[in-house]
Amino acid sequence: MTVASTGGRETRVLAIETSCDETSAAVLQGRGDHVKLESLVILSQDVHRIFGGVVPEIASRAHLTAVVPVVERALHDAGVSLHDVDVIAATYAPGLVGALLVGVSYAKALAWSTGLPVLGVHHMEGHLFATSLEHADAVPPFTALLVSGGHTLLVDVEAWGRYRLLGRTRDDAAGEAFDKVAKLLGLPYPGGPHVERLALRAAELAGGDEARRFRFARPMLRRDQTPEDAEYYDVSFSGLKTAVLNAVRAEQRAAVGGPATQGAVVDGQLVPEATRAAIAGAFQDALVETLVEKTARAAERFGRRRVVLGGGVACNGTLVAAMRARAAGFGGTVHAPAPRLATDNAAMIARAALFRFERGERAPLSLNAYASMPLPGLLSN
Ligand code: KG4
Ligand code: ZN
Repeated sequence: MTVASTGGRETRVLAIETSCDETSAAVLQGRGDHVKLESLVILSQDVHRIFGGVVPEIASRAHLTAVVPVVERALHDAGVSLHDVDVIAATYAPGLVGALLVGVSYAKALAWSTGLPVLGVHHMEGHLFATSLEHADAVPPFTALLVSGGHTLLVDVEAWGRYRLLGRTRDDAAGEAFDKVAKLLGLPYPGGPHVERLALRAAELAGGDEARRFRFARPMLRRDQTPEDAEYYDVSFSGLKTAVLNAVRAEQRAAVGGPATQGAVVDGQLVPEATRAAIAGAFQDALVETLVEKTARAAERFGRRRVVLGGGVACNGTLVAAMRARAAGFGGTVHAPAPRLATDNAAMIARAALFRFERGERAPLSLNAYASMPLPGLLSN
């Protein structure tokens, strides 16, 4: 048993994350903001690539076969056994219900068989904690931009557990927009890294004028918006995606020298790589400028000097660089997690669980999984 369970100070958490297409387990020990990540195992389900997106049924089955060895490996890497653990945590919402249930059920079974307490963690609260595992300064108060394949949230983090949800997407998540645009440009899934790489080569491939030929409107971004406007912090990416679709189709029509019926040509086909790179760059610029501006609005409005990024899209170097440049204008610093902690992982779940555990929270063995669930600790704006 660790010191925590014997009345001491530190707590050791075993956490399981299975909300989407990563089976992950982590062991973390600590107290308050002083934590040590003892192990992190992430198994990505590559099988979804052939379908161009996550297939929920396949995800659940893959979690089922992976969860036991992944947890065993995390305990092994940490050099501990279940006897050394104080609490078992699992992501219980939001996510794919069948996928979440695998982690939740296994956590409950382990808790029941060992007599240890179990905790359910909100996946997006996990993302809020992720960056603090690497950057000691990524602690509240801060403005958080969480951008993943399923979510786009702008949150003011006054303290751990005290959150103001300022903005969200009205339609597609930022990562989803990257993935759909990648498909239109004939790039593989998941598309974000491919779009970013292609966009980076726009100037080299296309030359100055061609690289600047495309410019897409910044969605829901007008200079005259005020904090009272419903659109001040929210974003929307489906119109931007349609603008990309129209640009690709126009290029395809030009290539065949006449009107082509919608969908008559395969995504990205007939469009030279230089043009596709220019379109990728223009898309990324519009999306990045929108996210950066909305995040800066939130930071300035609440007087925050720290901006914390999270979610898979936080791997995007152009977004991070643009956010840093904008934050410099108000004396702010930007903390972006390493890719391993930006994308789904159990380390962030363990960190959030430690916070909840220290507050005395425990879940009953009737803990269930939920596809959607508001962030805990929401304050009114
Ligand atoms: O957080 P995450 O791993 O999983 C979800 O919870 O969704 O995020 C995955 C998303 C995908 O949409 C992927 O295309 C996007 O993150 N992504 C990127 C980059 N790397 C991953 N988007 C833009 N640029 C990147 N470099
Ligand atoms: Zn996530």
